[in-house]
Amino acid sequence: MTNLVPGTKLVIEEKVMINIGALASGRGTNLQAIIEAIKEGKIEGRISIVISDNPDAYALKRAKRYNIETKYINFKSFKNREDYDKKIMECLKEKDVDLVVLAGYMRILTPYFIKVYKDKIINIHPALLPSFPGLHVQRQAVEYGVKVSGCTVHFVDEGVDSGPIILQKSVEVKAADTEESLAEKILKEEHQIYPQAIQLFSQGRLIIKGRKVFIR
Ligand code: GRF
Repeated sequence: MTNLVPGTKLVIEEKVMINIGALASGRGTNLQAIIEAIKEGKIEGRISIVISDNPDAYALKRAKRYNIETKYINFKSFKNREDYDKKIMECLKEKDVDLVVLAGYMRILTPYFIKVYKDKIINIHPALLPSFPGLHVQRQAVEYGVKVSGCTVHFVDEGVDSGPIILQKSVEVKAADTEESLAEKILKEEHQIYPQAIQLFSQGRLIIKGRKVFIR
C-alpha cells in the first residue's frame, strides 16, 4: 500500500513480482541463469531465499554474491523427512514464496510439501521426459544410443520427474558424444528454458489441465 499525500498523483507501472524460493544442493548454474535473467528484466520476480541441504553447495556462494538470503538446513537435525520439509516450508512461508524452484536439489520432496505447494513447484530435468527420469540421465541417453535428448521444465508432483511438462528443448546426440559433452550441451539449453518457464509462471500464463500445461 502506498500512502499518498492528498492531491499528489502517483503513476506506477503495475508489475507483479513473484517471490521465488530456490532449493539447491550443488553447483547452481541454473540458479545463476535465473539470477541473471532477473537482473536483465526477463523475469518479473525476485529470489527471496535460496535454501540448501549442503553447506558447501556452490549455489549458496552464487546467491550470496548477489546479496540473496541463503539458508543451510542440516537434514541430520530432524527426526524425519517430513519434519525437515516442514522447516524448509516455514522458511518459504516467512518469505511469502509464490514459486518453489528446484535448482539441482538432490532430495525428494515429501508428499506433504508437494500438497501444500501444489502447482507451485517446478524442476528442470536434463532429459526429454518421459524418457530417462531419475539420475545420471545423460549417461543413460548416450548408452541407449538416442539421437535426440534435451531438457524438460515440469511441475513437481508426487512421482519421480512425472509432473506436467511446461517447456522442453531438444539437442542432437552425436555418435562422438560422451556423458560429459551431452551434459554440457543440454545444460546450455537448461539455462535458456528454466528462466523462460519461470517468467511464464510469474505472468500467470501457465494453465494446468490434467497432464497438460497450456501457455496462454
Ligand atoms: C541440472 O542438470 C539439472 O537439470 C538437474 O540438476 C542439475 C543441476 O545443475 N536437475 P546446476 O546445479 O544448476 O548447475
